Amino acid sequence: MIVTIDGPAGAGKSSISRQVAEQLGFEFLDTGAMYRAVAWAVIRQGRDLTDDSSVADVAQNICIDLAGGRVLVDGSDATDDIRSPEVTQATRYAAANTAVRMHLVQLQQQFGREKDLVTEGRDQGTVVFPHAECKVYLTASPEERARRRVADLASRGVTADFDDILTQQNRRDKEDSSRTVGPLRKASDAIELSTDGMTPEEVIQRLIGIIEQRR
Ligand code: C5P
Repeated sequence: MIVTIDGPAGAGKSSISRQVAEQLGFEFLDTGAMYRAVAWAVIRQGRDLTDDSSVADVAQNICIDLAGGRVLVDGSDATDDIRSPEVTQATRYAAANTAVRMHLVQLQQQFGREKDLVTEGRDQGTVVFPHAECKVYLTASPEERARRRVADLASRGVTADFDDILTQQNRRDKEDSSRTVGPLRKASDAIELSTDGMTPEEVIQRLIGIIEQRR
């Protein structure tokens, strides 16, 4: 069974999807980590982020290993580095690159073969697994998402300004939904779940209920 969970940045998709997969005994795929890993490798190799063929070349020649919740790129642990502001900013060059997307979509489809899978991203229900048995579009208002991000950073000892976070988030939302390849869109057969006012545990239980109904 394939479960796709798509939605905008900051809707809590990653941690929630991971826990849903764990509770159901499904494999979990964080596709955002793959786009981040490509951007990280481009920077590390000193290649030009704005050169499409160079970025595609890096994507096609690195080995991304997502086993055990870590992100290994050619054997180097990039788990923390791929979440840095620098890599977050740079990821759009990988995400808007047609050849990179074609390559990563293929890897994602291979990952979903013969396994029960919860996969999370922007295009999982629309492009990667259009025939998934269960599709969810997870969202929350921009203000709620920004509030959660500020709280999350604070819990890690980082002080962030709410308005700055909201501005950056609005920019990423716009980039994600206006991309010509693999844009963020709700699949017509996806269930939309707005998580405003819900605790992560409530969201997890709702999702498990939705998935169980389709099993
Ligand atoms: O989900 P996360 O914030 O880690 O994703 C990082 C970036 O990767 C997003 O801003 C988005 O542009 C891109 N992405 C994508 N397609 C996916 C998952 C993520 O383009 N399936």
